[in-house]
Amino acid sequence: MWGTIMDYRISENVKNVKPSAIREIFKFLSVPGLISFAAGNPSPESFPTEEMQKASNAVFQSSASAALQYGTTEGYAPLRDWVKNRLVNKFSSFTVNDEVIITTGGQQGIDLFSRVMLNAGDTVICESPSFIGALNAFRVCGANTVGVEMEEDGISVSGLESALKNNKGAKFIYLIPTFHNPTGITTSLEKRKEIYRLALKYGALILEDNPYGELRFAGEDVPTIKSIDTEGIVVYTSSFSKILSSGMRVGYLCGPKQIIDRCVVVKQANDVHTNLFFQMLVSKYLEDNDIDKHIQTIKELYKRKASLMINGLENGLSGEVRFTRPEGGLFLWVSLPDGDSSEIFKSCIEKNIAVVDGKAFLPQPASCSSVRLNYSMPTDEQITRGTEIFCANVNEFIKR
Ligand SMILES: Cc1ncc(COP(=O)(O)O)c(C=O)c1O
Repeated sequence: MWGTIMDYRISENVKNVKPSAIREIFKFLSVPGLISFAAGNPSPESFPTEEMQKASNAVFQSSASAALQYGTTEGYAPLRDWVKNRLVNKFSSFTVNDEVIITTGGQQGIDLFSRVMLNAGDTVICESPSFIGALNAFRVCGANTVGVEMEEDGISVSGLESALKNNKGAKFIYLIPTFHNPTGITTSLEKRKEIYRLALKYGALILEDNPYGELRFAGEDVPTIKSIDTEGIVVYTSSFSKILSSGMRVGYLCGPKQIIDRCVVVKQANDVHTNLFFQMLVSKYLEDNDIDKHIQTIKELYKRKASLMINGLENGLSGEVRFTRPEGGLFLWVSLPDGDSSEIFKSCIEKNIAVVDGKAFLPQPASCSSVRLNYSMPTDEQITRGTEIFCANVNEFIKR
């Protein structure tokens, strides 16, 4: 076997990065009768398939050659304009000093920004737990990921200040302040202001990741951190994955021109530009349809599914188990008083329920007794039945 005799001298940055634990769970998903709360996918019911088909025909009828040609790295101009307008009108998150680049999913926005900012050995401070795709993007650049504990209203501010003090020169703080993945928590406005103040005080940038920001089904909108940025220290990323289609891989990154210009260079060394046909498709869809009306239907769908799951957990779980009650997004987070999350995961799988082991989301190795549950993918019946089985299993797990 070659692998045993050859030293392929894999990069130090990459060789120890573990594959996403969520991808590993896919192995179990073909088990007959298994109910999965492990996905991170939007509901297939949320895809506007007919409208997309019409938009696709229209793109090919009017601009087939352009759609099949190379495009500019910055992105398809009408789509960039739409994104800028959306950022201005809905999120107050675009200024005259900013620029927008269309990326291959929000994931690539995180990756480009990381490659532009990070040297090996740099530190990124993030919420603990945090999004695995982002943690791995930082790790691939050779960065250290330092996690700060989450509270009910977002990252612990005192914990953040300690992390900034203990990690002098930390390059940036990575945050998912709205409908956080994996916990579903939304950071309060007071905390957003405090986080911003600390970032300025310690000279760190903020990468604000907001892929779920359009999906609020309860409560009031909270301004983005980008919208309170007067000094050009916040870079913002989002995507069309959770409101139109995740498979199209169309996202965007918005921030100070100097940073976005460098992202353009890195993207040229990567995929040159995001798939032009899909950018044109999104753009045509947005031109011919009312996206807000469409988003409203997704919010209603997720509101129903989240309520079903939350009611099931409220009725079924013993009082010692805590769980979050998200006002949007796709996930909630269940925390047992103690026990190991990998054991909780295994006990659920034995009962044909897939959840995600909370440990997978930790920036640094630590003990964890929480798991992530998704409500966007399972059917209503699966949510009802699966939640019942999950609760019975967790209650039994605690007694053991
Ligand atoms: C917090 C967060 N950021 C970014 C992404 C990347 O999304 P995409 O690349 O599909 O746009 C995801 C996907 O699940 C996510 O949960």
